[in-house]
Amino acid sequence: MKLCVIGTGYVGLVSGVCYSHIGHEVVCVDRDQEKIKRLSQGEVPIFEPGLEDMLASNMAAGRLSFTTRLSDGLAVADAAIIAVGTPARADGSANLDYVEAVAKEIGSCITAGLVVITKSTVPVGTNRKVKNWIAETCGHEDFEVASCPEFLREGTAIADTLEMERAVIGVESVNAERLLRDLHKPFQTTIVTCNLETAEMAKYAANAFLATKISFINEVANVCEQVGADVTSLAEAIGLDHRIGRHFLKAGIGYGGSCFPKDTQAFIRVAQQAGYDLQIVPAVERVNAAQRLTVVHKLKTALGHNLAGKQIAMLGLAFKPNTDDMRAAPALDVYPALEREQANTVAFDPIATEQAKAALPGIQLANTWQQAVKDADAVLLLTDWETFKDISLPELKKLTKQPIVIDGRNMFDPKEMEMHGFYYDSVGRPVVDGRLERIREWEDLVLGIYDRFANG
Ligand code: UDX
Repeated sequence: MKLCVIGTGYVGLVSGVCYSHIGHEVVCVDRDQEKIKRLSQGEVPIFEPGLEDMLASNMAAGRLSFTTRLSDGLAVADAAIIAVGTPARADGSANLDYVEAVAKEIGSCITAGLVVITKSTVPVGTNRKVKNWIAETCGHEDFEVASCPEFLREGTAIADTLEMERAVIGVESVNAERLLRDLHKPFQTTIVTCNLETAEMAKYAANAFLATKISFINEVANVCEQVGADVTSLAEAIGLDHRIGRHFLKAGIGYGGSCFPKDTQAFIRVAQQAGYDLQIVPAVERVNAAQRLTVVHKLKTALGHNLAGKQIAMLGLAFKPNTDDMRAAPALDVYPALEREQANTVAFDPIATEQAKAALPGIQLANTWQQAVKDADAVLLLTDWETFKDISLPELKKLTKQPIVIDGRNMFDPKEMEMHGFYYDSVGRPVVDGRLERIREWEDLVLGIYDRFANG
């Protein structure tokens, strides 16, 4: 099949590369000349494991190319896939300016019988608007629209696409359904066919549900902390019930990224416009906003309620591991909160360095985790990068001024932290204070010696 993918952002680029990988002929279009030049030379502008190699091999096989000219991409295409951004407006609603511009451009060079598929996350009713924008420009309706929302995650985008658990296709005709079924055949996945509105809603509902799971487990974690329970064992205990499911029950400092925060907001607006006031999703957002700052309260508790002049090592800036993406990352709230408390923060992230400089101007960045924690009064873990899990605890203890670790991602075993003499406060698990253990050990030793002397 011949495809024209419009927009080479996260979704467009990964989808385009994966479609070519399963054998389709793909032309990716973007109006950003610099980006297209770099992509044509095999350079991938985002950090996504495996994407650069896959892009190179499909370009070499002649199945994948890049252009800035939409008319070139559309000239021989069976289907056009719109994958441009839908950023949030100030009121939280999705900005459809890019989608509208692309639809009108498609209308100006459309070929007969084209199926126009929207992959961008868009409010309910957008596909019908796309149809009107195209028809207004080309003056006929000899084309079809379809909705095919994307569910891939950053960092695992290729596997999520190649091994997709389902494809949702919103269609209005047998012809469009057949094309989308053929397009997805090599993925050997379950296909859910529905109308345009259902497909559009499915994306918002899926993301809102996942965000709800995260906020729910974070609230449970906060209660666990008060009653001496452990949220990790609890999550296993409830997650084994298949009606609940084990995934997305990892308590932490809340969700971030380019989708959940934006899509929950947009979903609230979609419902409002339809005359319905959502109750659960706004609560999910409130819990998420508060959860981000719990690590700052924990830090204050550990450091005598005053962070002024304290040296804080912040490990992890990206919103999750295996990405350099800092969009809506917890660090964007945590760092300013530390600044307000007049703490001195030194941060380290294995990848998101340039992004951090842009998102948090003035932030002091270290080149290694060792450099960041040197002489720190406390260490704050914000992103669960695998490399942080491998940190040598004796080395960490030796480098810091005080062995205090506040872990927003439950990366370490509290018992081990205690054994190594750390004060360790994580999420939804009892605080351990290995420093006290040491003091108790010393007390026992001194009392033992005293006893021996006293008893001759
Ligand atoms: C998400 C959806 O998973 C994906 O289907 C959709 O297409 C886009 O949005 P992504 O934003 O890449 O993908 O990241 P994801 O891995 O889902 O994590 C989102 C956030 O939730 C991260 O900040 C992560 O740290 C947090 N999270 C996730 C938790 O705090 N706990 C969990 O159990 C899972």
